[in-house]
Amino acid sequence: MSQPGGTFDIVILGAGSGGYAAALRAAELNLSVALIDKAELGGTCLHRGCIPTKALLHAAELADQTRESEQFGVKADLVGIDMAGVNAYKDGVVGRLYKGLQGLLKQDKITLVQGAGKLVSQDTVEVDGKRYTGRNVILATGSYSRSLPGLEVDGTRVLTSEHALKLDRVPSSAIVLGGGVIGVEFASVWKSFGADVTILEALPRLVAAEDEDISKAVERAFRKRKINFKVGKPFEKVEHTDNGVRATIAGGETVEAEILLVAVGRGPTTQGLGYEEQGVTLDRGFVITNERLHTGVGNIYAVGDIVPGLQLAHRGFQQGIFVAEEIAGLRPAVIDEAGIPRVTYSDPEVASVGLTEAKAKEQYGADKVSTYNYNLGGNGKSQILKTQGFVKLVRVEDGPVVGVHMVGARMGELVGEAQLIYNWEAFPAEVAQLVHAHPTQNEALGEAFLALAGKPLHAHA
Ligand code: NAI
Repeated sequence: MSQPGGTFDIVILGAGSGGYAAALRAAELNLSVALIDKAELGGTCLHRGCIPTKALLHAAELADQTRESEQFGVKADLVGIDMAGVNAYKDGVVGRLYKGLQGLLKQDKITLVQGAGKLVSQDTVEVDGKRYTGRNVILATGSYSRSLPGLEVDGTRVLTSEHALKLDRVPSSAIVLGGGVIGVEFASVWKSFGADVTILEALPRLVAAEDEDISKAVERAFRKRKINFKVGKPFEKVEHTDNGVRATIAGGETVEAEILLVAVGRGPTTQGLGYEEQGVTLDRGFVITNERLHTGVGNIYAVGDIVPGLQLAHRGFQQGIFVAEEIAGLRPAVIDEAGIPRVTYSDPEVASVGLTEAKAKEQYGADKVSTYNYNLGGNGKSQILKTQGFVKLVRVEDGPVVGVHMVGARMGELVGEAQLIYNWEAFPAEVAQLVHAHPTQNEALGEAFLALAGKPLHAHA
């Protein structure tokens, strides 16, 4: 027999980026919340995604900087990578943030419920025989690492990113299946740590969701770093060898390595949770909502990776905030998906917001779109860092800039201004009159706008 767990303004299933952001905003708005999760508060991003991977990438950067220090007149030898030490650092970062998050969520308005929940009616989630009823329900159950038919993940030779984050050694060699965000980031880490890496990507280019010029730049940089990649041929099979794996791609070519990382996308966690039984529409497992994130069923909303679109933590945060405000009657503005900034934290780093050149031409017509590439060769701080890359602007004729695409060291830090420019629909002349500090990499963005406004300063043709 199930027992009542209580009635709340909002019952939230899933305490990852989307779910906990909704809970915090709802509590600020004086709404009572039950926040349910079977695992740790913070979800994939904090424990198995964004945060630990970026810690690895930072350690990787230090390794490269040590190797390359002589270029800067600093003598240092890279003695080795102590994975126990790297993992302790990474886990320390996660642990501190986790503690902070637990503190944030410990408040009167939020009831934390630990356990696996299931939607048993349009307003009720059941957890271990207790029923939590909400005047509103938010589904926020996130995503899992997908695999391919016939590709068995065993956690030792064939890994997902969750396993890869726990490796206690640097593999001598690795095959990375999928040249998307996860694939490129892990390839970058492992190469910096000294592994021999090969990426296998079915599409014709790495980071295929990005602007084509960005893919070219990443591929050029990876070639220079001796990260191998094979694009344009789908993966066919993987077999175990005496001490590792052998992957075969279309056409019969094979690659051998100690381990294989499966990074072919993340699927929505929506099966067996009662969603369909309660009438929620699923499409290939994703929850379909309107632009206000309502499922069309009862007062059920959905946020985060289960909603089709970019699977990014900051999108989840924003959607969580949006739905809490929607429930509170604040009528928040609809989130523009293209205005969500995207960063791939590999070396080189990729950051973008808005439309790629190809998408902009599709949307506005090829003759209405122009682009400008500002090469980091003209940017003082980038020269100091010895990085290469560019800032590419995509502009609608006599209109605003609709896409900003950047590649090079630390470009992720520039995406804040880029997203303001895109989301405020800034014209080149408006940005060009704003002052950028010298010498910063941020100046590259300013210089690109100066050039687009017809008054280039440090731009080399
Ligand atoms: P993804 O969708 O970015 O890339 C998957 C890649 O695998 C695609 O390029 C696809 O063409 C390729 N692929 C699929 N089937 C294949 C086959 N049979 N053979 C060869 N290649 C094949 O997905 P990924 O990298 O797994 O990441 C999952 C999600 O996590 C993404 O939505 C990403 O945005 C998010 N994420 C974001 C990060 C960030 O913002 N820095 C970091 C890591 C993940």
